[in-house]
Amino acid sequence: MVLVWCVGVLVVVALVIRVVHRGRSGRCRCTNTMEGKTVIITGASAGIGKETALDIAKRGARVILACRNITKAQLVADNIIAESGNKNLVVRCIDTTDLNSVRNFAKETLQIESRIDVLINNAGIGGSPVRKVTSDGLESTMAANHYGHFLLTNLLLPLLKKSSPSRIVNVASSMHWKVPSFDVDDLNFERNYSSFQSYIRTKLVNMLFNLELSQRLSDTGVTVNCLHPGTVSTEIFGKSGNKIGKMFGYVYKVLGKDAALGAQTNIHCAVSEDLINVTGKYFSDCKEAPTSELAQDKGLAKKIWEASEEHVGLKPEEIHC
Ligand SMILES: NC(=O)c1ccc[n+]([C@@H]2O[C@H](COP(=O)([O-])OP(=O)(O)OC[C@H]3O[C@@H](n4cnc5c(N)ncnc54)[C@H](OP(=O)(O)O)[C@@H]3O)[C@@H](O)[C@H]2O)c1
Ligand SMILES: *[C@@H]1O[C@H](CO)[C@@H](O)[C@H](O)[C@H]1NC(C)=O
Ligand SMILES: *[C@@H]1O[C@H](CO)[C@@H](O)[C@H](O)[C@H]1NC(C)=O
Ligand SMILES: *[C@@H]1O[C@H](CO)[C@@H](O)[C@H](O)[C@H]1NC(C)=O
Repeated sequence: MVLVWCVGVLVVVALVIRVVHRGRSGRCRCTNTMEGKTVIITGASAGIGKETALDIAKRGARVILACRNITKAQLVADNIIAESGNKNLVVRCIDTTDLNSVRNFAKETLQIESRIDVLINNAGIGGSPVRKVTSDGLESTMAANHYGHFLLTNLLLPLLKKSSPSRIVNVASSMHWKVPSFDVDDLNFERNYSSFQSYIRTKLVNMLFNLELSQRLSDTGVTVNCLHPGTVSTEIFGKSGNKIGKMFGYVYKVLGKDAALGAQTNIHCAVSEDLINVTGKYFSDCKEAPTSELAQDKGLAKKIWEASEEHVGLKPEEIHC
């Protein structure tokens, strides 16, 4: 009897938290169309990226789903076409952990596309349970979440600038707050690897990339903003292959936002007319939000940028900012 009561109370408390959390979740209120615009979304085959793609397709844009699994992404594209009635959707292959793949994606995109209005750097993974190194010799979590997007953004910059006013949106996380200090000489986590520490560090690096890029692009008409999507129930937890990550996945399923709510701040940063001249900011629940002190460290941002140029092998003629 007591047990039944306890379970009952727990269920009610969980439901109340869920309803309040979802009720307070920020929603993008802008209704503007995106007709005539081209939007690239990395990691659009699942979770937050997929819902972002659906919303922006409904607004009439040409949407490029930049994904590593073409079969999966094509199924998603077919569903989005059916639901939105927008046939102007393209699936194009990119694996952000493979610099060659990023280069091929950029090359093809620059050949085919006449403009890029929005680039949403969304693809991401939770920290690998054990340290893994990519074929380029980079730590895999940092490669998936940062290096690939760093290279991609630099390679696409000429067309983004030509298409200005245009936007770059970087999906970071409030987890960046948890990083106590950052060693720029250990961008590949060669010392003292931990799955959680590596994930939150990649998200801090997303914030600092945003900071440095926004400064480099001031007065170009290309704005650069980053965001926290919220605590969102997506595939990321199951895929991490780490037990604590999986557990968080179950908790988020009950208490978190669904992916459609989780996509709202992505959509806000990509389409809202209120943000036309806004750059270098961090958003959460479709509002500007405070960042950690480390995430405002301009010296650190510059050092991470310079180290990243070296790690991805960016050539002098590929630097456009
Ligand atoms: N969920 C949350 O609570 C939360 C909180 C804060 C921040 N975020 C951030 O939100 C972003 C989206 O995550 P999500 O929660 O929507 O996760 P998700 O459901 O796992 O989706 C992640 C997407 O990224 C793609 N991806 C992963 N590694 C890739 C690679 N190497 N190359 C190309 N694409 C790759 C995945 O492709 P596949 O479909 O092939 O796996 C998938 O499309 C991430 O940057 C994450 O850090 C999420
Ligand atoms: C790609 O996606 C398909 C469809 O969801 C899935 O069956 C397949 O296992 C995925 N491939 C890889 C390598 O993850
Ligand atoms: C290794 O990481 C753990 C936990 O993240 C920390 O407590 C410890 O001080 C670190 N050790 C070194 C040598 O940095
Ligand atoms: C944005 O900036 C441009 C150039 O400085 C200016 O002409 C325009 O009025 C601004 N728009 C908004 C909405 O602030």
